[in-house]
Amino acid sequence: PAIEYGLEAPFAVEYHETLASTNDRARELAGSGETDVVVVADEQTGGRGRLERVWDAPAGGVWLSILCRPEIPPARAPLYTLAAAVATARAAREAGVDAAIKWPNDVIVPGDGGDYRKLAGILTEMEGETDRVAWLVVGIGVNANLEAADLPEGATSICDEAGVVGRRRFVQRVLETFDEYRSNLDAVIPAWRDLAATPGQRVRIEVAGTELVGRAVDVDGHGALTVATDEGERTVTTGDCEHLRP
Ligand code: BTN
Repeated sequence: PAIEYGLEAPFAVEYHETLASTNDRARELAGSGETDVVVVADEQTGGRGRLERVWDAPAGGVWLSILCRPEIPPARAPLYTLAAAVATARAAREAGVDAAIKWPNDVIVPGDGGDYRKLAGILTEMEGETDRVAWLVVGIGVNANLEAADLPEGATSICDEAGVVGRRRFVQRVLETFDEYRSNLDAVIPAWRDLAATPGQRVRIEVAGTELVGRAVDVDGHGALTVATDEGERTVTTGDCEHLRP
């Protein structure tokens, strides 16, 4: 059952010890007309990642989904995802982690020689017409207090990087920053750029079954990435991006 989480947050918080997926629960709430609710779970048994992937979500992480109904066209929805990445990276930095953002919305800890490990991921889902979003669910998964043994390959956690983090405080900071940016969408891209590790990197991007290799140049006002390839500049709006060794 949902119990109090005890947060001073700009959202109503619904906390569960265990859920299949906080995104699924937030979608259910969207179906019953709710808005500005955050679903938090200690553990997920059916966590979902981007591109239909499974997302491991054992106890100790921060697994949450924000449900809102912004008055924006779907084309601006990526700004919400980027705002969530900014909020998560900032909260991780406050917790002492050298966090950065890999386009479009993975929070990573950069290592030597182009290496990086993933700290958090974001899965945004929405429904709406061409001119207007009906609801938006921004799911944020953070490997907060997960021990190395509980982490998938290529991942890291806050406790591995900087010691155990107070999860309630962490969630509160994420929600505060997300709330700040959703009412100031024009500030999202500049904030994203300040934290972005991707521009300047050699990247491989898988988009709709094809592969693009080149140097990431910058992101535009919608969050799309420009990549300089041998065939000229290409702009990608979504995809799976990997930083390559220089
Ligand atoms: C990714 O990097 O592939 C995105 C991962 C998103 C995981 C979070 S955990 C909370 C929310 N509920 C889910 O089932 N997924 C998201």
